[in-house]
Amino acid sequence: MAFTLRLSDPAPPVSVEAWRRLARRRLPDLAWNYLDGGADDLVTVNENMAGFLRHRLRQRCLTGVRAPDLSATMAGERVALPIALAPTGAAGLSHWTADVAATRAAERAGTRAVLSTASSYTLEEVAEATEQNHWFQLYPFGNRDKVGALIARARAAGYTALFVTVDVPVVGNREGERTAGMTQPWTLTPPRLLNMARRPGWLHAVFRRRRVAAVHYVERAAEAKAATLAGGLRRAIHGAGDDAIASAENQARYMQGDLHWDDLAWMRDQWQGPLYVKGVLDPDDAAQAVDRIGADGIVVSNHGGRQLDRTLAAIDALPAIVARVGDRAEVYLDGGVRRGTDVVTALCLGARGVFIGRPYLYGLAVAGEAGGAVILEIFRAELERALVLMGCPGVGSLDRSWLAQRPGDT
Ligand code: FNR
Repeated sequence: MAFTLRLSDPAPPVSVEAWRRLARRRLPDLAWNYLDGGADDLVTVNENMAGFLRHRLRQRCLTGVRAPDLSATMAGERVALPIALAPTGAAGLSHWTADVAATRAAERAGTRAVLSTASSYTLEEVAEATEQNHWFQLYPFGNRDKVGALIARARAAGYTALFVTVDVPVVGNREGERTAGMTQPWTLTPPRLLNMARRPGWLHAVFRRRRVAAVHYVERAAEAKAATLAGGLRRAIHGAGDDAIASAENQARYMQGDLHWDDLAWMRDQWQGPLYVKGVLDPDDAAQAVDRIGADGIVVSNHGGRQLDRTLAAIDALPAIVARVGDRAEVYLDGGVRRGTDVVTALCLGARGVFIGRPYLYGLAVAGEAGGAVILEIFRAELERALVLMGCPGVGSLDRSWLAQRPGDT
């Protein structure tokens, strides 16, 4: 094969970490700190990733495995790989195509996305722009009327599973966000404007939606704070005036502080499809969700280390929850998944599948939908290669027996 050197066409980044570095260069501090930051000292952010590194995989040879089966069933849907997109609010800070791009990228990879309550496009817009039925994440904000209305909208738009996030009774102490000016409510100040102006490519990437949606914007401008520049930016980020986010923003909180298990039982009654509780780290809570509320499953998650710092890494919390409810509920994990081998490890420890958050946002920030699709392809290729090298016929075979013991491991 002839070797040609084309300086104009550098090889695309080959790993999630390489996409991360590229995204960092594209985004102004404000957006970057929001996307990549976490609570307090980032202990949990870092342990989410480091936790995977403590495990070792078993390698069998001469097994003849060449094309391992990567398909799995997640939240009632057959997916091409056991990886789906976690909900992320204000994805429009990464790229104007935001949730629509992310959800389409998931479809291209044969999987699904969970749309955030704090999405940049309304749940109806995302449903219209995509082929498959996706899943909806619920922040139980406000009161039962509001939550009930949002659940009804999600059902009417065709979302098939509900993920109720329960780990935000108050927003975590994200000092990076605060220092960079990502406060709520949003106001546009000269320093912030200066910060954003340092990344003209980003301004273009975020504000392009405003031009595309100009008619819609003018129609609605009179109604809301969008009459101001700050309002315009907020709507560029948060989309076409989703009631949910407006309400959450006004209250500067995403969850009723006094939310209780009875409220969750009420939500269970409102939603007939599969329901998952996201943000559980304690086996007692997992048992409550499954046995008392009738949740179909749990997402073991610490919100990507953005809430309580120094709580357990997701991968470290997983085994006890699997031991407690794994025989009667679906257990998923998110937090710190950056490699195909991380996915393997989570599945060995009993997760049915995993969700990724920041990785696909890196993809969006660099290249919109195509970037999100490349990230999922990186995961798919890494997962496939890892299974071939392990000699494992498919993700359905992974269990603890595929973890190798190191000398000194108990
Ligand atoms: C989030 N996460 C989140 N979770 C949720 O239930 N609703 C939301 O609106 C958001 N918003 C959000 C924004 C951003 C920028 C990030 C990074 C994360 C948490 C998310 O669903 C998931 O739990 C973590 O992102 C998983 O960790 P990793 O994959 O980012 O390490």
